[in-house]
Amino acid sequence: MYVCICNAVTDRQIREARDNGACTIEELGQQLRVATCCGRCAECAQSILSESAEQAA
Ligand code: FES
Repeated sequence: MYVCICNAVTDRQIREARDNGACTIEELGQQLRVATCCGRCAECAQSILSESAEQAA
């Protein structure tokens, strides 16, 4: 599903970015531009990032 509409970023891309070392919303922004426009996706993106990190642990 699309998480960041502004930059057309999906939850799958966020999980892949996490696997590639993105640990913070800022690093997600650097890799995928998530939350770099309107910012409405930040909370959802953070949840997916945290969830993905927990699963990886
Ligand atoms: S929805 Fe992600 S920056 Fe707007």
